[in-house]
Amino acid sequence: MKYGRIVGWGKHAPARVLTNADLANMVDTSDEWIVTRTGIRQRHIAGAGETTATMSAAASRAALAQAGLLPRDLDLIILATTSPDSLLPAASSLVQEMLGAKCGAFQLQAGCTGFVYGLATAQAFISTGLHKNVLVIGTETISRNVDWKDRETCVLFGDGAGAVIVQACDEPTGVLSFVLGSDGSGAPHLHIKMGAGEVITPETIQRGDHFVRMNGREVFKFATRVMGQAATEAVLQAGMSLADIDLLIPHQANLRIIELAARHLNLPMDKVFVNIQDYGNTSAASIPIALVEAIEQGRCHEGDNLCLVGFGAGLTWAAAVIRWGVSERPFAMSSLFTPVVKVRERAQVTLRVMQTAAAMQVMTARHALTKRTAKAVQTVKAKASEALLPLYARVDKRYTRDKRD
Ligand code: ACO
Repeated sequence: MKYGRIVGWGKHAPARVLTNADLANMVDTSDEWIVTRTGIRQRHIAGAGETTATMSAAASRAALAQAGLLPRDLDLIILATTSPDSLLPAASSLVQEMLGAKCGAFQLQAGCTGFVYGLATAQAFISTGLHKNVLVIGTETISRNVDWKDRETCVLFGDGAGAVIVQACDEPTGVLSFVLGSDGSGAPHLHIKMGAGEVITPETIQRGDHFVRMNGREVFKFATRVMGQAATEAVLQAGMSLADIDLLIPHQANLRIIELAARHLNLPMDKVFVNIQDYGNTSAASIPIALVEAIEQGRCHEGDNLCLVGFGAGLTWAAAVIRWGVSERPFAMSSLFTPVVKVRERAQVTLRVMQTAAAMQVMTARHALTKRTAKAVQTVKAKASEALLPLYARVDKRYTRDKRD
């Protein structure tokens, strides 16, 4: 059986930051309420022209560069999102085009747990030997579906993207286990009504059915129950105990939910990664962004066991155990072509430099020649004038004498 190891990772956060103080100017809330109830201090909001596809492509390019792969090395693209650019086509195909990849691509929707569902799907394709390099992305532009007048939801969400490349390997590293769950009876607790079940009319727009609506207390209760359960199941399935987990990377929805889950799992908070203060709840992007930041901050060491766990709309939940290990050089088809590509690029640069130098030499030579020729002509002219002087004098003398006679 093949294992799916993470060999590349990248993230993208929009430049625009919305702080709690900014929100306090928009709705009846305060920094103190938001921080104590959620742990959030700021969130990133997509700017004009920034979409789920563009942010996914940015995060994916970073992941490809990290892995030393080219887009043509990808065998599959899985994009987890609840806020695609449009209903049709899937944003995953837009990403495939933007990257210039030549592979299948599909979109996956499972709320905030979408990325872990994506990781599990990638692992399934890899373990069966079907694919070698799978790009898994979690991205949200959820700010476009947030009712900025509803203080119960608008303080929670933010935009962003995270991507990883899962690569087939033989050693038991990477995704060791996963647990996926869904309880549709909780669907009314967290939803955006608009869709094929409710077409757009002036009335639905008036009601704000295109906005995220949430029963916060119910979601809170559900989350605190499933986070611990799902993580425990995934850990047991990986043949481990909770003590073997070096880092828990939970969905960043609410710091209190994260702390309760850690308590349930008997994990100290220094074994739990938290970045909710900087991003808010970025839904499907939350876990991959947290994973990428944990890696960048040196929190994932060779051989460490990571547990990713999330919950979300559906209601859904998901957990995965990953053994971190990237010491072996990732295999890339492109690596066979990379030297050729590099040599060709270097040769082209050298050629351009040589062409420019030669052109400049020609120009300098022509300039010098022009100058020398002009000088020579001038000398000849001066000499000729000098030689002709007596003749001029004689002609002049005769002319004066003829005039006088
Ligand atoms: N500012 C000030 N007051 C507020 C705000 C706000 N932004 N929002 C709500 N309140 C008020 C309420 O109106 C209520 O007032 P009342 O007592 O006069 O009625 C009071 O604060 C307390 O409200 P609660 O709902 O009890 O607040 P709670 O402590 O439960 O926190 C919260 C609310 C943060 C939403 C919490 O319930 C939560 O985090 N739930 C989970 C949400 C979540 O994780 N969602 C994401 C799911 S993942 C996905 O798929 C997108």
